[in-house]
Amino acid sequence: MKRMINVALPKGRLGDKAYALFAQAGYECPELLEENRKLTFENERAGVRYFWVKPSDVAIYVERGAADVGVAGRDILLEYAPDVYELIDLGIGKCRMCVAGPSAFTDPHTGVLRVATKFPNIARKYYAAQSREIDVIRLNGSIELAPILGLSDVIVDIVETGKTLAENGLSVLEEIEPVSARLIANKAHYKFMGEQIDALRRGLSKAVQA
Ligand code: PRP
Repeated sequence: MKRMINVALPKGRLGDKAYALFAQAGYECPELLEENRKLTFENERAGVRYFWVKPSDVAIYVERGAADVGVAGRDILLEYAPDVYELIDLGIGKCRMCVAGPSAFTDPHTGVLRVATKFPNIARKYYAAQSREIDVIRLNGSIELAPILGLSDVIVDIVETGKTLAENGLSVLEEIEPVSARLIANKAHYKFMGEQIDALRRGLSKAVQA
């Protein structure tokens, strides 16, 4: 007997968009859109159970098998390098991982560059490839404040519309990588639920192209 597919969705705007794709693919669960504080929802008939989790935690739920599949930004996958399968690009949550700072800033390439970020691994890897020595200042949000207050020289962060940078007098200095949301799957579960997960993947691919 088939069991329900457990799906970890990122709470927030990205999760809402991701759910719209799942619904289009036939995995609807209208209760999920109701205003309430519930974190799990299921539609037995469609064979799916959803969990709302913090976006940066989706990969952990999937890697450890608490969810069979999930939706995670490429930024999270690059930062945490979870041991999961990346099945498809969902074409939503498109943004860019960038180095940003005051428009006039140019790296003197001497001394240590102070880099504020929520993505220390991405920042380290990027600068290591250039043999540039950096001091990573790990923050949890409002990263744009760091160069404004002199806490850092630059930031490594996600840029979507560029509005946050512009409104704070900062600019993109270098682009590191494009980012978008991916469907990820637990490796072991993909083996014993392969058919079910593949059916979901095919449905989502169609919804993405529609
Ligand atoms: C992200 C990111 C930027 C902003 C970019 O922050 O860290 O601050 O969005 O978007 P934009 O280019 O469209 O302005 P988020 O909203 O996740 O909040 P945070 O500051 O708490 O990280």
